[in-house]
Amino acid sequence: MSSRTRTRKTSHAARAEELRRLVEHHLYRYHVLDDPELSDAAYDVLYDELKALEDEHPELVTRDSPTQRVGAPPAEGFRKVEHLSPMGSLEKVTTAEALSKWADDVQKRLGSDEAVAYVVEPKIDGSAVSLVYENGVYVRGATRGDGLRGEDVTGNLRTLESVPLRLLESDGKPHPEVLEVRGEIYFPLAGFDRFNEAQLAAGRKPAPNARNAAAGSLRQLNPAITAARPLSIYVYGIGVHGGSAPATQWETLAWLRELGFRTNPDAERLESIEEVAEACAAWEGKRGELGYEIDGIVIKVDSFAQQETLGSLHGRPRFARAYKWAPTSAVTRLLAIHVRVGRTGVLNPLAELEPVQVGGVTVSSATLHNEDDIRRKDIRVGDLVVVQRAGDVIPQVVGPAGEHEPSTRPWKMPKRCPLCKTEIIKPEGEVMHRCPNRACPSRGLETLYHWAGSALDIEGVGSNTLKKLWDEGLVRSLPDLYRLSTEQLEALEGYAEISAARAIASIARSQEQPFSRVLFGLNIPKVGWVIARNLARHFGSVDALIAATQSELEEVEGVGPDRAVLIAEWVADAENRRLVAELRDLGIQMEGEKDERPAEGPLTGRQYVITGTLEGFKREEAKAALEAIGAKVSESVSGKTSGVIVGESPGSKAEKAQKLGVPVLTEQDLRALLSGASRKH
Ligand code: IVH
Repeated sequence: MSSRTRTRKTSHAARAEELRRLVEHHLYRYHVLDDPELSDAAYDVLYDELKALEDEHPELVTRDSPTQRVGAPPAEGFRKVEHLSPMGSLEKVTTAEALSKWADDVQKRLGSDEAVAYVVEPKIDGSAVSLVYENGVYVRGATRGDGLRGEDVTGNLRTLESVPLRLLESDGKPHPEVLEVRGEIYFPLAGFDRFNEAQLAAGRKPAPNARNAAAGSLRQLNPAITAARPLSIYVYGIGVHGGSAPATQWETLAWLRELGFRTNPDAERLESIEEVAEACAAWEGKRGELGYEIDGIVIKVDSFAQQETLGSLHGRPRFARAYKWAPTSAVTRLLAIHVRVGRTGVLNPLAELEPVQVGGVTVSSATLHNEDDIRRKDIRVGDLVVVQRAGDVIPQVVGPAGEHEPSTRPWKMPKRCPLCKTEIIKPEGEVMHRCPNRACPSRGLETLYHWAGSALDIEGVGSNTLKKLWDEGLVRSLPDLYRLSTEQLEALEGYAEISAARAIASIARSQEQPFSRVLFGLNIPKVGWVIARNLARHFGSVDALIAATQSELEEVEGVGPDRAVLIAEWVADAENRRLVAELRDLGIQMEGEKDERPAEGPLTGRQYVITGTLEGFKREEAKAALEAIGAKVSESVSGKTSGVIVGESPGSKAEKAQKLGVPVLTEQDLRALLSGASRKH
């Protein structure tokens, strides 16, 4: 070899090593510190250079190179491996009393003079794994299994960018000969919803919850499949270490982070059991806002010396407890599917369930979306089904819990409206069925709810009142509302003189609400807040809107041919024209959108951030839609952010949101916000 070739060779080798360090560094900034220094594109440039260099010089490839995450061939099965030290489990407590009793026992065993500090960590509901590093290099990954022996999933775990393949330097000390790290693999919730959609689209069964999806993804024989799932890890401890390790759990977490592992940023060190109890209670409320599932809080005595003194009982450490809550999904029987008629005639299937405890509340009904969805998931009346609930959202039926009962049949949408018996229709290209009868009683009542509750914001007249007024025959249409007298209201249960007078005043005040809100309230098919506002601004009056041709309608932002047809049909309808004329006579605004201040709406005061690519919206559309109902949309996440809407391939903003405890919302949540169906975020 000439000396020149040798120099080039060494410089290739040096460049490859440099690139490996750079790529690792940026992965660390991104996954562990949540503080990327590079854009995704700039990171790709480095990665691609390394990949190209290695492709050209295969002898430069090292086992721990970041390019070697995927590439192991599909396995035949998983080898069993013995853990270097057993992976135990935790004794659980479910009440503050039990927690305090445990602390008393700890104190008694350690002696009353001893100060005890605790580390509390969210208990991630995923799949426990052990990662082994030899001289700083990742050599093996295994599932927990029975605690003594697990399955060798080295190749699968290697595909997770948040699993370091080579440890970072810590204080310039050499890496321990052997280091076994423990953590929990989890499926982030934003990715979980998308995963299930994709499962359904491919005709496969959806996963009942994020934990199953994580465990299933980890046990794929083909690592390429695992690589395609957005799995992540939080590590929480050390099994075996062949060198000097820290003396406390708290320092261990810091050390693991320095070595390049993701540790949960919400872990806390607390100096009294009272603070621990408070933290546990607070966590229950925050639980639904995290971007991942937790099933409790782990509490550990911080000092390893004290842990040693306390020891274990039957493989369960006396130095730790899991404070657990009720699970967020449950299995129960689907008793019936009812169909509710919404304000625009849309038919919403609703599950009636055998009451079951989910996440601490009793659930007896849940949404089922639409007929296609029910059939795709093959949800049948009479079967056991998985019901899920997170935070305040409406519970959902995820799918059948197992095999179908022999007597069950696929579900069909009824042919006629359950209330008015009119034959129902399913317009071409739409997923929802509709009752076409405008006089359908449910529709009328829902229209009133929508008018008073969302569109015109009539305080003091809630859905219960409207229902009673409807039942008494006092209010059967929007104009009826404006003919209501104080005496009539007073006669209603729950009203007294003052509250009735207040409600009447509030109905009268709705006459001052701007035209755009009125348009929104009229229930024109496919006219939500944004389109109503655009129509109001474009035409300026109901008369101009009525006179508009279809092509003039299409000039309005957000109005395509389909919507234009529906709007044109609505305004051409004689009955609708009578309604508009009557409302105008009663003093409702039918013109003018002078209001050019930032839009006021149900989301006034809220601030959102959008990250990643949304499926059904362009980013600008989503922004405009949120702004039209009063929200602000900003670029960066802060403590003031009400929610971060996360699309496909989100950046660090989603993680930042988690860190700050800001709710992470899916595209579905966004739709719920826009349709006014949800006020939770
Ligand atoms: S410490 C002796 N810390 O909970 C076991 N476990 O029942 C010590 N888990 O199998 C485990 N987050 O899968 C610990 N921060 C955390 C955890 C955690 C989740 C899981 C883990 C383990 C189970 C314990």
